[in-house]
Amino acid sequence: MTTRIDWITRAETSADIPAIRDIVLAAFDTPLEADLVDALRTDPSWIEGLSIVATDPGGRPVGHALLTRCHIGDVPALCLAPVAVLPECQKTGAGSAAVRAALKAAKGMGEHFVTVLGHPAYYPRFGFTRASAHGIGLTIDVPDEAMMALALDADHPLPAGTVRYAAPFGI
Ligand SMILES: CC(C)(COP(=O)(O)OP(=O)(O)OC[C@H]1O[C@@H](n2cnc3c(N)ncnc32)[C@H](O)[C@@H]1OP(=O)(O)O)[C@@H](O)C(=O)NCCC(=O)NCCS
Repeated sequence: MTTRIDWITRAETSADIPAIRDIVLAAFDTPLEADLVDALRTDPSWIEGLSIVATDPGGRPVGHALLTRCHIGDVPALCLAPVAVLPECQKTGAGSAAVRAALKAAKGMGEHFVTVLGHPAYYPRFGFTRASAHGIGLTIDVPDEAMMALALDADHPLPAGTVRYAAPFGI
């Protein structure tokens, strides 16, 4: 049976940086995503308060979700990437907790739009829908269902346009 835990979420502090790198390194097969997080941290696309950790009851970060500035056409939006959870803690809700906290923090800052390129079986649970259905595209070729977008409030429907990523993404 899968254990479900009430993960604690909060914005990263400088003390969390090594633990976040360890989480991202452990979650992915290559160091590319961990290097991406470090590159984003010193990039203008970084927004304080939108790098979220999920911690265990002892305060140890086990999950991480990051939102950085991107644009849909000329409209400011956020890019959700990467999301990572320590392998031993996966599928216990830590990733979902970090993503939900990141989206809530973004909404609280007055942000309207979020894009994600990822598993089409995972992100719809947060409200993401296929980006192409909103006229949102990419400059690279990806499976259509992998590119998703979310409007954080009903008053601001998603704009159409091509997603422009922060420079560290290299897209
Ligand atoms: C993907 C990831 C962030 C999800 O976090 P998590 O804490 O394991 O997931 P949660 O416990 O919040 O949610 C579990 C659900 O996600 C699903 N899930 C987990 N990994 C998934 C994947 N790679 N693809 C599709 N669904 C996935 C589980 O099947 C489960 O579904 P259910 O709730 O319907 O049973 C985490 O598994 C991870 O770090 N994976 C490796 C790195 C990665 O692929 N990151 C995402 C890049 S888009």
